[in-house]
Amino acid sequence: MTRMLKKTLENILTLKESDELISAFDQIGSIIIVRIPESLLSKKRIIGKTLLDEVKIAKSVFYQASAVEGDFRTRNLEILAGEDNTRTEYKEFGCRFIVDVENAFFSPRLSTERERIANLIQDGEIMTNMFAGVGMFSIMAAKRKKCTVYSLDINPIASNLCEENTKLNKLAGEVISINGDAAKIIKEKLMDKSDRTLMLLPERSDEFLESAINTTKDGGIIHYYSHIHADKKSNASKLSEEHYLQVTPVRSEILDSKIVRAVGPRYYQTVVDVKISK
Ligand SMILES: C[S@@+](CC[C@H](N)C(=O)[O-])C[C@H]1O[C@@H](n2cnc3c(N)ncnc32)[C@H](O)[C@@H]1O
Repeated sequence: MTRMLKKTLENILTLKESDELISAFDQIGSIIIVRIPESLLSKKRIIGKTLLDEVKIAKSVFYQASAVEGDFRTRNLEILAGEDNTRTEYKEFGCRFIVDVENAFFSPRLSTERERIANLIQDGEIMTNMFAGVGMFSIMAAKRKKCTVYSLDINPIASNLCEENTKLNKLAGEVISINGDAAKIIKEKLMDKSDRTLMLLPERSDEFLESAINTTKDGGIIHYYSHIHADKKSNASKLSEEHYLQVTPVRSEILDSKIVRAVGPRYYQTVVDVKISK
């Protein structure tokens, strides 16, 4: 648990209970989301009220009542204290984003990866962001470099927010939000179009790899994300490279690989950057 959260709750929880509270809470703009273990659910309202009182810029505290799930990768939230409003504004590296923390995927924990991708993109590139959510990666990349980003998502709320965020960041025409299934959109409109393709839906990367290859030009780059079990953390990125090489049907040069974040015990989200030849 963060020191701040522990300090805030020291009057209502015992030391043992504090230690039980899941390691971190997310603050996204004016919204706090907490994960609370079963054993502390009877205290969830007082936890919510205490956080709302103590964290000055917070307007709402929600309890995360389900895992991130389903095609849209969303989660159920239950209001504990403050306004029952799941929309807020979030700022990252000079970009502004309207997010809806219940109805469209958003994670503040991917900011380092967003910055890495934004730094890799070159002026003049066309990027296809296959699973773009509210457009976080797309907008950050287009803010840094003169590029065009096709920002695809199957969730209409995510696509609408991406459009809203594109206008908010004055990137109309540079980020193009398209709602629908990425495989279908690529087949219809984006074959051999992209210098760079981002496929941040790690659970289903293998299923969508063919579409990613279809939209990427000969010599283009794919950022292939996956979830990998590894006994040792130091093996995870190597294992993800091996996995990619086993499943890819095209000649590929590995440019880089790394752990994006831990997603469970000995379980990692990884990315492999590859240059493909068609
Ligand atoms: C893990 S989220 C990534 C969102 C975004 N890249 C980000 O980091 O904020 C995956 C996204 O893929 C979308 N999605 C799931 N299946 C899809 C499909 N077949 N075609 C397009 N988008 C899809 C979900 O709606 C969700 O917004």
